[in-house]
Amino acid sequence: VTETKGTAVAPPTTATNGRVSSSAQLAPSGAKDTLRFSSELRRTHEVTITRDLLHPGNPALRERIGDRRALVVLTPSVKRLYGRRVLEYFAGEATAAVEFMVLERSEASKSLDAAVEVCERAAAAGLRRTSPIVAIGGGVCTDVCGLAAMLHRRGGPHVKVPTTLVGLIDAGIATKNAVNHLGTKSALGSFHPPEHSLLDIAFLATLPRRHVVNGMAEIIKLAVVSDAELFALLARDGVALVESRFAAPAPVGAEVVRRSVAGMLGELARNPFEVGDLRRRVDFGHTFSPHIEVASGHSILHGEAVALDVALSSQIARELGLLSEDDLDRVLCLMREVGLSLVWPGMSVDALWSTLRAVVEHRDGDLHLVVPTAIGACAYLGIDAISPALLRTSAERLARRSAARPGTLGRRSRT
Ligand SMILES: NC(=O)c1ccc[n+]([C@@H]2O[C@H](COP(=O)([O-])OP(=O)(O)OC[C@H]3O[C@@H](n4cnc5c(N)ncnc54)[C@H](O)[C@@H]3O)[C@@H](O)[C@H]2O)c1
Ligand SMILES: [Zn+2]
Repeated sequence: VTETKGTAVAPPTTATNGRVSSSAQLAPSGAKDTLRFSSELRRTHEVTITRDLLHPGNPALRERIGDRRALVVLTPSVKRLYGRRVLEYFAGEATAAVEFMVLERSEASKSLDAAVEVCERAAAAGLRRTSPIVAIGGGVCTDVCGLAAMLHRRGGPHVKVPTTLVGLIDAGIATKNAVNHLGTKSALGSFHPPEHSLLDIAFLATLPRRHVVNGMAEIIKLAVVSDAELFALLARDGVALVESRFAAPAPVGAEVVRRSVAGMLGELARNPFEVGDLRRRVDFGHTFSPHIEVASGHSILHGEAVALDVALSSQIARELGLLSEDDLDRVLCLMREVGLSLVWPGMSVDALWSTLRAVVEHRDGDLHLVVPTAIGACAYLGIDAISPALLRTSAERLARRSAARPGTLGRRSRT
């Protein structure tokens, strides 16, 4: 995974090489001949941070498509807000055939048939194996298109143009893509990195406040477990960033996104395909949250659920003596200041406990619950470290903190 700034970049390459080896054994009891095929797949994913992405004078997106046929997918609100500019952007004679599609899906309908719908449209548009699917939208759009690209012709390229804050710093630069299935969040998916992610924070200008706050949860999550400097920026300017849709203070919005993207790519680069060691710092806030999202009927957004999980996991760390009271206050204060809730009445201890058991299955037999140990540092907890009693105490303490008036949680961090 590489991060590239600027616009002039060479197209990424995907190289494979395969080997066949044979081990023939003639044993007295019978012959055995095993042929083993092994191969390597090298993927390059370029993340470009740019401005005025849809300005006809900015060639970044057109260059990444090149002379390939492409299917550009927008969700309805992105079409309403940016559709005309997208059409104008691709109207020049330099662009090869680009087809457009409006994907009428939201979190509640982010299912396998959404990906199939995109595949069918890609086939109808005559997309070849090398033709990209270009998703311009939030995480729902980029996830569905990423999975569709994986399915179309057994793995075609895709380009992500995230238009939400969650997209810019997480879904739009992710190596994996998933849809919901049979009531389970992200149950079906693939590891299929995009060729390119093109990021422009100007899209945030039209994003509803709730979705900006939602994205802040993912940034806070990253800052708490891995980047104390980012945390300090958020503690100082987080509220102003939310109010201004990341436009003010001017250099800080771009810096927060750049730091978040670099941090996330750094985490992904450690183990992009999640093979072997399944411990990931970026899973902080992602243990209880999938259950919360589904249990709320998706009335709680992804980032909002992550914030609830971050609060609970941090409180658990406090109960176990792993996190200081002061650092816990700083985390919870920041989340409340930017407008995130710390508790949800629908979270029963029983449901949280059974969620943990299900997560153990998903994480190959262990829990790896990420908990902060300081601002910028974390530890992983096994299932043996957690009990229903610990969950109950933590949830109750958190509820009491949450009920306290703002300002009584602890002193405000300005470091
Ligand atoms: N692949 C991954 O690793 C990964 C990581 C994080 C999140 N996700 C997924 O991403 C999804 C959440 O993403 P999201 O928060 O972007 O939600 P979303 O895609 O539902 O977008 C939120 C809303 O904002 C609208 N919108 C998008 N851009 C806009 C803009 N610029 N102005 C105004 N409105 C705009 C959308 O149409 C939608 O109504 C979840 O499904 C989550 O599972 C995936
Ligand atoms: Zn997330």
